[in-house]
Amino acid sequence: MSDQIHIVEMGPRDGLQNEKMLVSVEARIAFVEALVAAGLNTVEVGAFVSPKAIPQMASSDQVLRGVSHVKDAEFHVLVPNEKGYDAARAAGAKVVSVFAAASEGFSRANINCSVAESIERFKPVLARAKADGVKVRGYISCVLGCPFDGEIKPKAVADLAVTLWDLGCYEISLGDTIGVGTPLKAREMLRAVGAELPVDNLAMHFHDTYGQALANLYAGMEEGVRVIDSAAGGLGGCPYAPGATGNVATEDVVYMLEGMGVKTGIDMDRLLATTNEVAGLLGRPPVSRVASALNAKRKRLAKS
Ligand code: HMG
Ligand code: MG
Repeated sequence: MSDQIHIVEMGPRDGLQNEKMLVSVEARIAFVEALVAAGLNTVEVGAFVSPKAIPQMASSDQVLRGVSHVKDAEFHVLVPNEKGYDAARAAGAKVVSVFAAASEGFSRANINCSVAESIERFKPVLARAKADGVKVRGYISCVLGCPFDGEIKPKAVADLAVTLWDLGCYEISLGDTIGVGTPLKAREMLRAVGAELPVDNLAMHFHDTYGQALANLYAGMEEGVRVIDSAAGGLGGCPYAPGATGNVATEDVVYMLEGMGVKTGIDMDRLLATTNEVAGLLGRPPVSRVASALNAKRKRLAKS
């Protein structure tokens, strides 16, 4: 447990993609810069998807270009197909993420094709990425339940993870897209995937809809998984996943880890300031429990 945990920050992508409000390119760039300054050295900054489908992620090319001066950080972007790959590369992407689903229902709703068709779309992306020296991360959505197809068998997740791995993904991020998982189910799923692939190359991407994400992450850490996707302030959700709310909050993860003696290298004060800044922009307080608690504590201290 005391091994270093690697956090992949989702705020500027998963976080903002589900917001009603369109956040300006300048504010998205400032958000990324502030996250890196807080110590988050891997940040997903945008998505090269259809702007008709996800207008919030339009101009991701400008965001990616706008953060190219930031040193010592790795920036990820989503690409669903070769068109997205072309645009991402033109904007300087060095790491791209393809995204599949463990369920047919979600695959259709999210990317308008079957799971098998999505793999066919990813094949040329992965082949070109290999030739270009670009790293590819692979997501699997709905690993603990689907809003359309219901229960998902761990074996279905493991099989798809192997497919993405064999295509050349360096890491498989396992998404509880609608946050329905509970710790023993998360453990069972991670054991099934871990029986096929090195556990060091797995990531946990747990949304916190039912308030189970930290418990699920802890169960996964006990299985040896060391990469956690989270979003500042608990922002996030997928517009194609009815009922889904935000990612587990980065503050909540950092508080838990530091409390366990795991050094994250993240400056909580800076992270909190960043979360508060974005919350102000969106016009509502952060849903993160730790951010709320720390904000309340500061108010008390300021009064006394
Ligand atoms: P499609 O309709 O099947 O594709 O969409 P198409 O090839 O028929 O093209 C339709 C239109 O989209 C055309 O434009 C294309 O040019 C355009 P039109 O002629 O109508 O003007 N198009 C594109 N535009 C920009 N970039 C592209 C691109 N490809 C085609 N790359 C497509 C397929 C995937 C594009 C579409 O369904 C889409 O963009 N969906 C959005 C998916 C998405 O971003 N979902 C949210 C992210 S996933 C997520 O949140 C889950 C995750 O967090 C993990 C978890 O929590 O589980 C990762
Ligand atoms: Mg997500």
